[in-house]
Amino acid sequence: MAGYLVEDTRKVTTHRVMEMKQAGKKIAMLTAYDYSMAKIVDDSGVDMILIGDSASNTMAGNLTTLPITIDQMIYHARSVVRGVKRALVVCDMPFGTYQVDPEDAVRNAIRIMQESGCDAVKMEGGVEILPAIKRILDAGIPVCGHLGLTPQSINKFGTYAVRARQEAEANKLRSDAKALAEAGCFAIVLEKIPAALATEVTQSIDVPVIGIGAGGGCDGQVLVVHDMLGMNQDFSPKFLRRYANLYEIMTDAIGRYVADVKSCDFPNKDEQY
Ligand code: KIV
Repeated sequence: MAGYLVEDTRKVTTHRVMEMKQAGKKIAMLTAYDYSMAKIVDDSGVDMILIGDSASNTMAGNLTTLPITIDQMIYHARSVVRGVKRALVVCDMPFGTYQVDPEDAVRNAIRIMQESGCDAVKMEGGVEILPAIKRILDAGIPVCGHLGLTPQSINKFGTYAVRARQEAEANKLRSDAKALAEAGCFAIVLEKIPAALATEVTQSIDVPVIGIGAGGGCDGQVLVVHDMLGMNQDFSPKFLRRYANLYEIMTDAIGRYVADVKSCDFPNKDEQY
């Protein structure tokens, strides 16, 4: 039943994502980190699935995305790929796997593609990582850029506040987006920047722009699936819309199970052999 909410059930490719921008069709993207969630997300009609390095937070409980390793990302990505029929699957290159030098970066990108079976990689940063991006693109690997709030640089920023409010940073973001698009990135994520700037960048480049906390003028939107399903009660940024309260639904269900076990209500005669 893959893609039952969408008319077109063909596998989404980088080419089709570009076509969606040209046709003015919005692109829906969510994260997933495991087989079961990926299957649900794919069956619901999401166009792109991101194995975000936010797995470091949501799956491992770390405070930042920095500790997750390439082996752990490949494990998550491989699990996601097994659950997906339609969506384009993008895997984050984790911190430290592309900042050292372009040869190291291309080796790591090849490992991610080969060992996980995903469709593309995502990398955080602008012109400073352009040589690595170009080397990876030259190897035939599609790259999604990521500008604005780039969580792998949280220790440099010192805060998760909105980025590019000042003109100098906004100008750098404009030229970074142009450089990534010209280099051949198939999409760019813009995270937590003013909506007007995101709209301007979206309109100035041919490449699809996927926003998170970047307003409605982008070509598409991405959210962390645990956040939009309300599994995580501690994270409530202004940009987040919660579509369910799974924390409440799950604690209620599990709480009833605990009560039933303790009261000897479960299992009953019909639930045993
Ligand atoms: O790691 C992640 O989940 C991301 C999204 C927030 C874009 O990069």
